[in-house]
Amino acid sequence: MERWRGRIALVTGASAGIGAALCRELSRQGMQVVGCARNVSKIQELAEEEKERGSQGSIHAIKCDLTQEPEILSMFDEIRQTFGRLDVCINNAGLSHNTTLLSGRTADWKNMIDVNLLALCICTREAVKLMKEANVANGQIIHISSMSGHRIPEQTSFMYVGTKVMVRAITEGLRKEFKAEGSRIRVASISPGLVETEFEYRCFADDLDTAKSIYESIKCMEPEDIVQAILYVLGAPQRVEVHDILLRPLEQKV
Ligand SMILES: NC(=O)c1ccc[n+]([C@@H]2O[C@H](COP(=O)([O-])OP(=O)(O)OC[C@H]3O[C@@H](n4cnc5c(N)ncnc54)[C@H](OP(=O)(O)O)[C@@H]3O)[C@@H](O)[C@H]2O)c1
Repeated sequence: MERWRGRIALVTGASAGIGAALCRELSRQGMQVVGCARNVSKIQELAEEEKERGSQGSIHAIKCDLTQEPEILSMFDEIRQTFGRLDVCINNAGLSHNTTLLSGRTADWKNMIDVNLLALCICTREAVKLMKEANVANGQIIHISSMSGHRIPEQTSFMYVGTKVMVRAITEGLRKEFKAEGSRIRVASISPGLVETEFEYRCFADDLDTAKSIYESIKCMEPEDIVQAILYVLGAPQRVEVHDILLRPLEQKV
């Protein structure tokens, strides 16, 4: 991780779960982390905590609703003006609604597509633009996908699964586009199984007992387990491009 010290990383969905744990760790590794989410006060709290702890890096909070493209573009303008560059873009923000294909609400489907897919593509496009402007030759894009990008469980929110299957296609598509233009920017996905975060509580917002029972059904992974996989991707020698890491809790059957 030595070569990333002092360099700039964007983490989307930084106010909770995997994104919050990631901001903390990257800052401790000496990176200057830009964390974005709607609930910006949570990221500001993280930034304060890390500062008091004497973290080697820093956390810069930006309020951004990823369903709104103008807000994403303003965020990149702020990164451009504040830091003048971007080295790492981690598309972590994501969500599922407890919905079906036969009777779900269009607004729920659209929300998942907007955040899980479109925002990921817009952020990647803007990140690469900024990397090129600043002559960052060895940048890194990371998508937090899901095991749902690799297999289709019996019962789940299939629109969510659809977004993650598409993230898998987008990861390989990006890799091909980078190769076609001779770029040395790397792209990777991380595909976790069940991680105990706010994810299921948000998905089952009107049925918190169900969310709780999902996390109690097995010994889940913790956000820090996913952070370790991300550190592996970042820390791999420049000659190595990690493509995707699939990881499940040991007790997860599907
Ligand atoms: N937890 C799991 O079991 C699991 C398994 C596989 C994959 N994943 C993936 O891991 C990633 C992180 O999930 P998590 O488990 O850490 O979930 P989480 O604890 O629910 O956190 C989700 C994050 O996404 C942000 N977000 C949601 N909608 C947003 C919007 N419109 N604009 C900006 N930010 C938004 C939230 O911030 P605000 O609400 O403050 O905006 C929050 O910071 C997701 O891509 C998820 O699909 C999770």
